[in-house]
Amino acid sequence: MAIFLVQSDLKEQIHRKTDQFYDDVISGLKSTPKRLNSKYFYDANGDKLFQELMNCPEYYPTSCEIEILSEKTADICEAIVADGDDFDLIELGAGDATKSTFLLKYLLKQKVDFTYLPIDISDNVISYLNITLPVTLPGLKITGLNGEYFDMLEKAAALSDKRKVVLFLGSNIGNMPISDAIAFCKELRKHLNEGDMVLIGMDLKKNPATVLAAYNDKGGITKRFNLNLLERINRELNADFDLTNFEHYPTYDPETGACKSYLVSIKDQQVTINGKEKIQFLKDEYIYMEISQKFSVAQTEHMATKAGFKPVNRFFDSKNWFLDAVWIAE
Ligand code: AVI
Repeated sequence: MAIFLVQSDLKEQIHRKTDQFYDDVISGLKSTPKRLNSKYFYDANGDKLFQELMNCPEYYPTSCEIEILSEKTADICEAIVADGDDFDLIELGAGDATKSTFLLKYLLKQKVDFTYLPIDISDNVISYLNITLPVTLPGLKITGLNGEYFDMLEKAAALSDKRKVVLFLGSNIGNMPISDAIAFCKELRKHLNEGDMVLIGMDLKKNPATVLAAYNDKGGITKRFNLNLLERINRELNADFDLTNFEHYPTYDPETGACKSYLVSIKDQQVTINGKEKIQFLKDEYIYMEISQKFSVAQTEHMATKAGFKPVNRFFDSKNWFLDAVWIAE
């Protein structure tokens, strides 16, 4: 009986997720201009492509942030440990925790008292972390939380009233337009108490050619990463996108720092979704796929103060291409 209930709960959860995906895709493709939400890039194949991307020579953000976390570990830990009390280290979108492991290892070595609470939308990721991290990092206290960021932050607050330090790495904040990013930070602030902290990774403005190359790699991984969403729609929503009829078109505007990716239809065509929704594309019509916002340092600090945080530390890589900033909730 219990197993039956668990299975039916799971089925309902999957249905709800698919319905949401379907609604978002249809409303996005019916809007002008057409758009898709980049949060849907990350199915199993998208995860693999993103791993490949992070290792490709043009995509610099990952190596820059790893340089910061591996070379400035002691200073970052000193900043987040603050007064030395036991605290909860919460990571939004933990993935395989490669980056945060630099901090976890150091904190354990220093015998700092803390609990690691990785949050991820993927239950696979959370089970993996719950099982593997206590083995690779003996002594680590870990409570993985599977779900949406803000729901899980509420759960974390209910679990303990310890000071919170939230990791939001990888310039994931850049995948929102600036106004949404500020709204996100305000919401994050609402879920924290005065004195709680955030360590947030943000990609900075730099030579425009460097940025553009990162989203237009010669190996074509970014192109496949974008097209993978059409493939996912074909598979999960029973659509008939012909991937060869779309071209990847990345842009970067150095004035605003907005790096945007589009898929452009190379001819007039019609795509059918779920046998009933017919979407017309004109030749040269585009789908807006993703924004990867690049920031000035001043912009990041404006975002912090607007949301109710005070920026207290800045950690840069040696090229000053990426910033991991510590903000404290005021
Ligand atoms: C996950 N996110 C921060 C990546 C970025 O740089 O915007 C996703 C990505 N898109 C294309 N390449 C990488």
